[in-house]
Amino acid sequence: QDYYGKELQKSEDLKTNACITSARPVSKLVRDALERIHEEVVARYYGCGLVVPECLSSCRILDLGSGSGRDCYLLSQLVGEQGHVTGIDMTEGQVWHTSGAPPHPSSSTPTSFPSSCQVEVAKKHIAYHTDKFGYRKPNVEFFHGYMEKLGDAGVADESYDIVISNCVINLAPDKRAVLWEAFRVLKPGGEMYFSDVYASQRLSETVRKHRVLWGAWGCGVGVTRHGDTGPLPPSPMSGLVPGECLAGALFWRDLYSIAEEVGFSPPCLVTASPITIGNKELEDVVGDCRFVSATYRLFKVPAGSRTGPGQATYNGGIAGHERELVFDANFTFKEGEVVDVDAEMAAILQSSRFAEKFLIRAGGANAAAPQGCC
Ligand SMILES: C[S@@+](CC[C@H](N)C(=O)[O-])C[C@H]1O[C@@H](n2cnc3c(N)ncnc32)[C@H](O)[C@@H]1O
Repeated sequence: QDYYGKELQKSEDLKTNACITSARPVSKLVRDALERIHEEVVARYYGCGLVVPECLSSCRILDLGSGSGRDCYLLSQLVGEQGHVTGIDMTEGQVWHTSGAPPHPSSSTPTSFPSSCQVEVAKKHIAYHTDKFGYRKPNVEFFHGYMEKLGDAGVADESYDIVISNCVINLAPDKRAVLWEAFRVLKPGGEMYFSDVYASQRLSETVRKHRVLWGAWGCGVGVTRHGDTGPLPPSPMSGLVPGECLAGALFWRDLYSIAEEVGFSPPCLVTASPITIGNKELEDVVGDCRFVSATYRLFKVPAGSRTGPGQATYNGGIAGHERELVFDANFTFKEGEVVDVDAEMAAILQSSRFAEKFLIRAGGANAAAPQGCC
């Protein structure tokens, strides 16, 4: 707690050489939007991926564990003045000390994330960004609350088009509760789009409780991610992954079963990049378990929408993806090109905000099978 609360004041303070950046090329639209964000917000960014879904105009977005609000301010620009972004985070108030940390509602393990005043940093810059984006009134708000208990923070059923999260769900002892809540607050056809850390197997108690893997942001741990191509503007957080992300990583297959149990469509894998641990002692602790940083998208497809495979033609016109929409690792849609899609993808496209951007016809071959990240 002292390390987080007192020593760690901004992401440059992190000592690991772990590498986390975007695994996809970033559009100019997004690069420009990132550059308009206040430097203090960027300096306090602790995410592990780029959570920027497409087709955002006028959408209502909820960010679980919004921290200093970097992703909220990025998306605030992409949804436009008619859209809205809400950030919710459990940290508020002053620097935590061991005795003063707020209790976690379902905590069986210590929640050790630092972030003195993350929500305050986010709130402090609302007026700056409203002015910078040329909006008449803010389209962003920040709340204190727990993502497992969104109802306690007043988040109503079916009130958001998209739920995002960036390197937060690994910190939740009860990941099922997080997905239940996300599902509840999403409108029919809504999407959960999130980056996190996954493991190739269920983690042993030794790994889950390990002092370094759980307790600190990889302090002194050489955790490196490979395969990144995204030319993001420099972020102090690029190259970093918290050690605690590894200790809380979900076995990727469990994501599939929890998603199904909750009622989401099968997860669509967007990007995955391996993480290696450059520390012999820790490698011995994790054994043959592998870790990846991955971005998934889950859809709340309304009952009765699954009618079988089809053929999808992208009409183009999504800002930043006018000619080509890379939807996930399995499906890329080029403007005007007919693509065979399986029943799940047909239902996702038909029932979500993407519907008006596609022409969908029934029939067509069953396309690619779902694919895990590890
Ligand atoms: C690794 S940081 C990521 C912050 C932010 N998403 C970003 O990209 O900068 C994790 C954040 O999740 C928040 N958090 C952890 N558990 C939470 C929970 N159960 N409910 C709400 N926020 C939580 C922490 O306070 C912290 O701000």
